[in-house]
Amino acid sequence: MAFFSGNKQDDNQDETAKNIFHFELVQKNILVTGANGQLGSELRRISTLHEDNFRFFFTDVAELDITDAAAVDRFVKDNGIRYIINCAAYTAVDKAEDDVDLCFKINRDAVVNLGIAATNNGAKVIHVSTDYVYDGTADQPYIETDAVDPRSVYGKSKLEGEKGLMKACPESIIIRTAWLYSIYGNNFVKTMIKYGKERDSLNVVADQTGTPTNAADLARTIIKILDFSEANGFRDGIYHYSNEGITTWYDFTLAIHKGAGITTCKVNPISTDQYPTKATRPKYSVLNKTKIKSTFNLSIPQWEESLNICIKELPSV
Ligand SMILES: NC(=O)c1ccc[n+]([C@@H]2O[C@H](COP(=O)([O-])OP(=O)(O)OC[C@H]3O[C@@H](n4cnc5c(N)ncnc54)[C@H](OP(=O)(O)O)[C@@H]3O)[C@@H](O)[C@H]2O)c1
Repeated sequence: MAFFSGNKQDDNQDETAKNIFHFELVQKNILVTGANGQLGSELRRISTLHEDNFRFFFTDVAELDITDAAAVDRFVKDNGIRYIINCAAYTAVDKAEDDVDLCFKINRDAVVNLGIAATNNGAKVIHVSTDYVYDGTADQPYIETDAVDPRSVYGKSKLEGEKGLMKACPESIIIRTAWLYSIYGNNFVKTMIKYGKERDSLNVVADQTGTPTNAADLARTIIKILDFSEANGFRDGIYHYSNEGITTWYDFTLAIHKGAGITTCKVNPISTDQYPTKATRPKYSVLNKTKIKSTFNLSIPQWEESLNICIKELPSV
């Protein structure tokens, strides 16, 4: 009996060992850079739902400065990273006009560092880019092969980052997104709620057309792409992602105030000329999402629906 019981215990230990071994075998290591930003924080929030398949390493500049090529290469090598999700960026669009060197260092040179580290260590990159690579003169949704012609330092730096990455690591996915907001960080949605509560009236540009993107939706899409890649292989290339639908900053503001129950602030439509900014923004930057939807078998929520989900989650509303 004792012998039998001893064996049983061994069997249990064996099972446990097998489970641990199996767990380590199937779990893929994922490096998320810029993890304290909007998108990185949304990825962190949902990461716990995917721990069976992926082991996430969330880093921001304090843990891993992506402008440090040697540190990036070491991190990827030491941690057996299989995918790098780059959420790090210089995103202060107007400030970038005067801060060209730093903007290019983060948005171009550091992205190349990630590509080189990935190639050296057998990893793949999912990188996030922007609608600002387009000049904004189109009158129908941009497709990925449309001509790029950025009009701002930020847009130029992001385009150079895309090109540098594709050269350093052709096995990369680049997702161009637009008008990103989240419950995390500072963004247009939070600013409009704050102003809406503080002010009687507000002037908002009504002649720039695009589509907002809830960063939580983009984060879920990135995880779906990881799952898809593990099951079906990695489909490198450039993709567009935003929520569905089309709006202007003015109509977006009206929807934000409606969702947040703000009724005491009159929103006035103005033209871009009446609100000059240091960086030129695309007048039209609606993105066609057919490619990402068909490649990865995705459906994308309408912007109004995703906006209201975000507003409900904001602690101050
Ligand atoms: N926000 C938008 O409306 C928008 C629109 C289109 C595309 N995108 C793109 O979407 C991506 C995610 O944007 P986001 O809004 O989530 O950006 P974000 O909130 O500005 O987050 C970027 C993060 O990267 C960090 N970072 C900066 N330099 C770094 C470095 N050298 N090493 C490591 N981390 C560094 C930032 O830290 P600090 O805050 O300390 O600098 C920040 O935590 C970016 O590629 C952006 O270009 C954004």
